Amino acid sequence: MTGRFSAKTVLVTGGTGGLGRAVTLAFLEEEANVIVTYRKQEEFDALKRTSKLEGYPTDVTDERSVHELVENILARHGQLDALVNTVGGYAGGIKFWEADAKIFDQMLAVNLWSGYTLCRAVVPAMLRQKHGSIVNIASKAGLDHPGGAAAYAASKAAAVAMVDSLATDLKGTGVRANSILPSIIDTAVNRRAIPQADFAQWPRPEQIARVILFLCSDDATVIHGAAIPVYGDT
Ligand SMILES: NC(=O)c1ccc[n+]([C@@H]2O[C@H](COP(=O)([O-])OP(=O)(O)OC[C@H]3O[C@@H](n4cnc5c(N)ncnc54)[C@H](OP(=O)(O)O)[C@@H]3O)[C@@H](O)[C@H]2O)c1
Repeated sequence: MTGRFSAKTVLVTGGTGGLGRAVTLAFLEEEANVIVTYRKQEEFDALKRTSKLEGYPTDVTDERSVHELVENILARHGQLDALVNTVGGYAGGIKFWEADAKIFDQMLAVNLWSGYTLCRAVVPAMLRQKHGSIVNIASKAGLDHPGGAAAYAASKAAAVAMVDSLATDLKGTGVRANSILPSIIDTAVNRRAIPQADFAQWPRPEQIARVILFLCSDDATVIHGAAIPVYGDT
């Protein structure tokens, strides 16, 4: 493997999750310094095989915690070259009028507010550096708005719009922002939820991680303000 990310510092939020873990391992393989946020200590312990990986238990919907996290990274590493936000959550399978209104707030917090707080925290540092790549994981549902998942679809649609608008603001600065749109990912959680599915058709986290690393690399400097489908055969 080439060390495209040697001497680069990247933040992968949700970096121990189904997709985040694959992104973290892919960056480590390419020699990046990787900082992850996590919620379950055992998940971080299972990933921590190298001194190039640091982890912080952080609620990324909490603005203050996110600012402290980013200040800490900058103090330790002096730079932040990429942010990949894989934090997100799903709620669905219930008619609009039957869903608890609390779900709406939860979906907005985890799928929209997370990216908002993170982008607000990292963009000033990236502007000072005159470079940086932000990748926010949204969803196909943010485009095609399936039934039974109004809160989820709305939160992901808003996340795409937010990153698109941010990308316009960032034009000419050297800082790029893009969204990734998975349909379904071959994760353990999805396999348990839909055991009858043909898992071979589902994109694997490692395949999506490769797209994300490309977006964060210098090969992708002309990709800015894109929402990239990673549907595979689904
Ligand atoms: N999996 C799919 O099929 C699919 C499809 C379309 C889009 N996506 C999107 O892709 C992204 C990654 O999905 P995934 O399957 O990897 O999900 P995942 O396994 O649940 O990973 C998300 C990670 O974020 C963490 N997290 C949740 N809320 C948080 C918070 N407030 N602060 C910090 N961390 C938090 C989760 O911790 P806990 O485990 O403790 O909750 C988990 O480690 C998400 O944005 C998801 O919506 C996934």
